[in-house]
Amino acid sequence: MTLIALLAGDGIGPEVTAQARRVLEALAPDLVFEEGAVGGAAYRTQGHPLPPETLALAKRSDAVLFGAVGDPAFDALERAMRPEQAILGLRKGLGLFANLRPAKLFAGLEDASALKPEIARKIDLVIVRELTGDVYFGDKGRGLTRTGLREGHDLMRYDEVEVARIARVGFETARTRRHKLLSVDKANVLETSQLWRDVVNEVARDFPDVALSHMYVDNAAMQLVRDPGQFDTIVTGNLFGDILSDQASMCAGSIGMLPSAALGSSAQGMYEPIHGSAPDIAGQGKANPCAAILSAAMMLRHSLDRADVADRIETAVAAAILAGARTADLGGSMSTDAMGDAIMAQLG
Ligand code: NAI
Ligand code: MG
Repeated sequence: MTLIALLAGDGIGPEVTAQARRVLEALAPDLVFEEGAVGGAAYRTQGHPLPPETLALAKRSDAVLFGAVGDPAFDALERAMRPEQAILGLRKGLGLFANLRPAKLFAGLEDASALKPEIARKIDLVIVRELTGDVYFGDKGRGLTRTGLREGHDLMRYDEVEVARIARVGFETARTRRHKLLSVDKANVLETSQLWRDVVNEVARDFPDVALSHMYVDNAAMQLVRDPGQFDTIVTGNLFGDILSDQASMCAGSIGMLPSAALGSSAQGMYEPIHGSAPDIAGQGKANPCAAILSAAMMLRHSLDRADVADRIETAVAAAILAGARTADLGGSMSTDAMGDAIMAQLG
């Protein structure tokens, strides 16, 4: 049995994952879905954004299909109880350390990109972001300097094992694409980045078929806007990856189009649209389900070893877009359900 933990979450999460489930049920009828409460929805009913039974379901599943979490009603809660903490708890509980975020412009969406059409058309890249280290998880604190000024600090740190394992994901991802890997760091000023670069160069010896290059993060940010067509696979740390992947997403059109995968050392992974719960449009049937549907395709490819089915889904989304199917974020007027219908109609 192939078990999918369906964690729909808050806001538009349930609306978009319902469409992803529909597509999966049509193309992979043997998948078994079990729903779990997560985020604000779980806090409401069970007093915790990631109840133990949800984490247990995720752990025994073959893959997690995740919607979105976040609810303005809970913004005042202490940090540990906020809906967004569920994502960190799932990543930690499942040992997920690599975040894959492909960004590509679907033909027909040139107008939606923040870039000029001729530049936007060339985007077809994936960012491999490290998820478990860096300034987010290093020693942090607040205090006073000797002269009484308030100060804050967050330690940037990686060890060689952490860098080597994300570097491997980067090289392996590049191998499935155009065999070009760019490692992004700030080695001109950061010790952490010098270690990062050394280790990436060492791992490169195992991947002679992949062309490795290095770039400083400030230059990478500039190049992403100037000429994103030069990039294939980018591997980088948690902080730089967070920022660069949001930037890349806007180059590729709507946030409603972009999927992601969080992977660890086993086949299991967690798949979710990069967008949040969008409280401003929740419950109105306006959400674009493409990111959730494309996340389901990534799940088939990376966790379930069904690349052929993943291809069929991606082709159907591209065909629906090309035929003019548009939700409001893409400048159209289709409802979430109608967009799902348009994609289903292209499945053939
Ligand atoms: P958001 O991604 O939810 O929304 C940003 C804007 O994009 C909104 O105007 C929204 O309507 C639009 N949008 C997002 N997804 C869309 C879709 N599929 N179709 C059409 N339009 C779409 O980000 P925001 O507003 O900063 O955060 C809202 C809540 O979501 C917050 O509580 C935040 O913490 C949470 N969040 C959760 C994430 C997750 O579950 N992985 C990721 C990002 C934010
Ligand atoms: Mg972000």
